[in-house]
Amino acid sequence: MARILITSALPYINGVKHLGNLAGSMLPADVYARFQRLRGHDVLYICATDEHGTPAELAAKAAGQTPDDYCKEQHKIQREVGKGFKLSYDWFGRSSSRPNNELTQAFADKLEDNGLIEERTSRQVYSIDDKRFLPDRYVEGTCPHCGYEKARGDQCDNCGRLLDPVDLKDPYSAVSGSKKIEIRDTQHLFLLQSKMQDRIRAWVDAADHWPQLTKSIAYKWLDEGLQDRSITRDLAWGVPVTRNGKPRPGFENKVYYVWFDAPIEYIGATWEWSSAAGEGETRDWRSWWRTDEGADDVTYVQFMGKDNVAFHTVSFPVTILGSQEPWKLVDKLKAFNWLTWYGGKFSTSEKRGVFMDQALELLPSDYWRWYLIANSPEGSDAAFTWQNFQSTINSDLANVLGNFVNRITKYAGSKFHGQVPKDGERGEAEAWMAKELETRLPLLLQHYEDMEFRKAAAETRAIWAAGNEYLTKAEPWVKYKTDVDAAAVGVRTGLNLAALFGIIAQPIIPDAAQKILTALNIPEQARSLNFTSGDRSYADLLDALPRGMEISAPDVLFAKIEDAQVEDWTARFGGG
Ligand code: MF3
Ligand code: ZN
Repeated sequence: MARILITSALPYINGVKHLGNLAGSMLPADVYARFQRLRGHDVLYICATDEHGTPAELAAKAAGQTPDDYCKEQHKIQREVGKGFKLSYDWFGRSSSRPNNELTQAFADKLEDNGLIEERTSRQVYSIDDKRFLPDRYVEGTCPHCGYEKARGDQCDNCGRLLDPVDLKDPYSAVSGSKKIEIRDTQHLFLLQSKMQDRIRAWVDAADHWPQLTKSIAYKWLDEGLQDRSITRDLAWGVPVTRNGKPRPGFENKVYYVWFDAPIEYIGATWEWSSAAGEGETRDWRSWWRTDEGADDVTYVQFMGKDNVAFHTVSFPVTILGSQEPWKLVDKLKAFNWLTWYGGKFSTSEKRGVFMDQALELLPSDYWRWYLIANSPEGSDAAFTWQNFQSTINSDLANVLGNFVNRITKYAGSKFHGQVPKDGERGEAEAWMAKELETRLPLLLQHYEDMEFRKAAAETRAIWAAGNEYLTKAEPWVKYKTDVDAAAVGVRTGLNLAALFGIIAQPIIPDAAQKILTALNIPEQARSLNFTSGDRSYADLLDALPRGMEISAPDVLFAKIEDAQVEDWTARFGGG
């Protein structure tokens, strides 16, 4: 039994996530976690809301709430939506929680002890009326490049150029609108990433479990040369800046930059999980994170969108390696491209696309989970379209899987007293089916191990399709008229296939799988994805259900998506 730590990129707190966010981190992480649990491994799947930074402060302000109240409320909403999508987190934490505060401050201390943090003076925009320094996004003004009058301090939305707020013309405060602006000197902490360049490169060179996309992004940053970066900001909401447990003089109105504390929350959330242990239960977060306390045998797997890769392959490793403490580093990193929405991107700020809560109002989670995994933005971007969604669901789930299970369980009900038939000998069709399983099941497992999710879904579908082909060959309904025993073999094999289809469906569509496995009376211990444990062969999978066992037909598993629904959704959400 291996120990596998899984994290998905922490969703920002500012509102419910869209299907693109889900497809590019939380969902594949969940599928992988479910897969590894079903292989019998000890899995810990950790996620949390990323609660600090200017976006959180601004969103709270827009909602007329304190950041604290806003985050509490939004965290709860995101937790519930995650449950709705059956994301099987072992813990869904909060980056504003105590453990993360403590860890972030401790990491900063260590880095400074090791000569990797220094105070630097820089020139920054100060608002006299607001009595504060303004972080990048709180300053607006005229773009020095294109003359656009509402450029943000960090970037111009008109010409797209990255800006330095001190270069804006006619700057004003986005907090109050005041134009009484001065450029003043202020102190910030800088993380000396340049000093870690060689350490990080050596570590990336040695990483042999990273896919191409991941490595190339890491090398791009390394080749450009790691820049020292400021890890503090002029905000009230965030982790306070301290030195050895005391407020740091001159930093009373500053906090650590959100991208400094957020990845540390992977550890913080594991600590939260530990603290929430029930009576008589031991949860030891350090055994998952400290290589001197047991984590040396942990495999750590991260999931994220490609815009997050540099932070996870370079910035966070600078924090970890720079601390010179025995923390666990990532072993495998799976990155995703974008799910696109009719030519553009899904967008939270522009409210473009379908959001997780809306999706659940339209259809149960399995429909979305299947589509987003089968159409995963893995090798390249993947387009979401309503038509593609409809045809995928109707063909894969309603026809190939749903009809098979429905047909065979109903037939067993009407012709074999709702029992697994006892009689009849296997023949050619069964041998053919066993061969299919013998080639396809190992492939399926391999795709999951390789985190090739599209391929895993395609192989799952191929196995379901082979089952349909088997029934066409075996034809129990035809044979029944002349040879009941021959029909019995077909029905028995069909029922065993239905059970197997439910078993392999579990990682992607857990609810439908559960319905199938309950209807077929499959006990928990028989639901694992270890198909050939002991001396069991693939052919034995076709005769695994106890003969004579009572079974029932599950309720309709999947309803077809009608054209009228597609029209309605297109009108509501756009697209087409
Ligand atoms: N909130 C970030 C995003 O949505 C991801 C943070 S990942 C972590 O892009 F490293 F902070 F954990
Ligand atoms: Zn511009």
